[in-house]
Amino acid sequence: MKARDAAALASLERDHRLLWGLTDALHAYVDALDGGRALRRGDLKAIASGLRVVADYRHFEKEEEVMVPVLVRHGFDYHLQIFDDGRREHDSLRYLIEVLHQSAERDLNWNLDERERISRVAHQLIERQRRLSTRQEARLFPQIVARLEPPALGQLTEQLCQFDESSAAREPTLDVAGLTRSVLGFYRAHSASTLPPVRETSPGARRTLQEA
Ligand SMILES: [Fe+2]
Repeated sequence: MKARDAAALASLERDHRLLWGLTDALHAYVDALDGGRALRRGDLKAIASGLRVVADYRHFEKEEEVMVPVLVRHGFDYHLQIFDDGRREHDSLRYLIEVLHQSAERDLNWNLDERERISRVAHQLIERQRRLSTRQEARLFPQIVARLEPPALGQLTEQLCQFDESSAAREPTLDVAGLTRSVLGFYRAHSASTLPPVRETSPGARRTLQEA
């Protein structure tokens, strides 16, 4: 791929890398949740907030409001399967991120049903986000660089960069890579420290997970 082509997609690929890191962090977190291991207060909220900013506010909007319109103006079919998949998956992922965010409001005060729900939602979110990114990188991105003429590719690059600049100005400062490293480091270091399994003793009984 030429340097010019790589630059056109750099903005989208950078988002995908950040999202992959956040889903890695979420995976490590729910592994600890599922295994009854120590959880650190605030981690679920930080991960859900990171996903909300990077996925919902930035990446999905960038694809919907910048990438798709530019591509359609330059000959791509609006109803292309990969665009339909993107719209449907973005809606599902936005919903899953909001569910996690709401659960994070009751951080560590979850009963068994809530823990199972968090785990289910997190696993769905991880799988859907990764599948979508992989499909776009395998099927859509190569088409973009193959089909767009240099001026159109330049226009796409410029508009993606403008979007990044304006979203950086309006979003809260967020060190996503640092958050990912911190979460992964903690749960990998504590993967051997298993807590006693939590058992439900009465309907609606609430348990508090032991904090690290
Ligand atoms: Fe994407």
